[in-house]
Amino acid sequence: MQKIHLSHCLATGLLFSVATMAQAACDFELEVNDTMQFQEKEMVTEKSCEAINVTIKHTGTQPKNLMGHNWTLTKTGDFQPVATEGMTAGLENDYIKPGDTRVIAFTKTVGAGETASTSFSPDALEAGGDYTFFCSFPGHWGSMNGKFIVN
Ligand code: CO
Repeated sequence: MQKIHLSHCLATGLLFSVATMAQAACDFELEVNDTMQFQEKEMVTEKSCEAINVTIKHTGTQPKNLMGHNWTLTKTGDFQPVATEGMTAGLENDYIKPGDTRVIAFTKTVGAGETASTSFSPDALEAGGDYTFFCSFPGHWGSMNGKFIVN
């Protein structure tokens, strides 16, 4: 009887963790700094989220014209052309070609001490689709990118 009771407690504990993770998968806070990288190489979200919220926070010391970062999401197949074409769009457009419909979501570009957020519907995403998040600041996308996974 005691064993059964113990496994029941473990199962309850596991269910609780899964529920906590599912909730967290809709809201992300990413810290960026004076290096050209995201600490996250992968972000995992859920198609069932009401909205997906992404905040980036620049904890470095460099201003955004020197070490600016944003968070941009596209299909993986669109990521490199969007990044390349966005280079000439300038900081005022967050290095994204205005009206680029390949961009699913993006934040403003941040420098030292700044934060920026975006909130978007998962309706635009397919579960199991191939998506990449990246920073579109010129020269950053090569190292500042990761997989965006939708369950
Ligand atoms: Co950057």
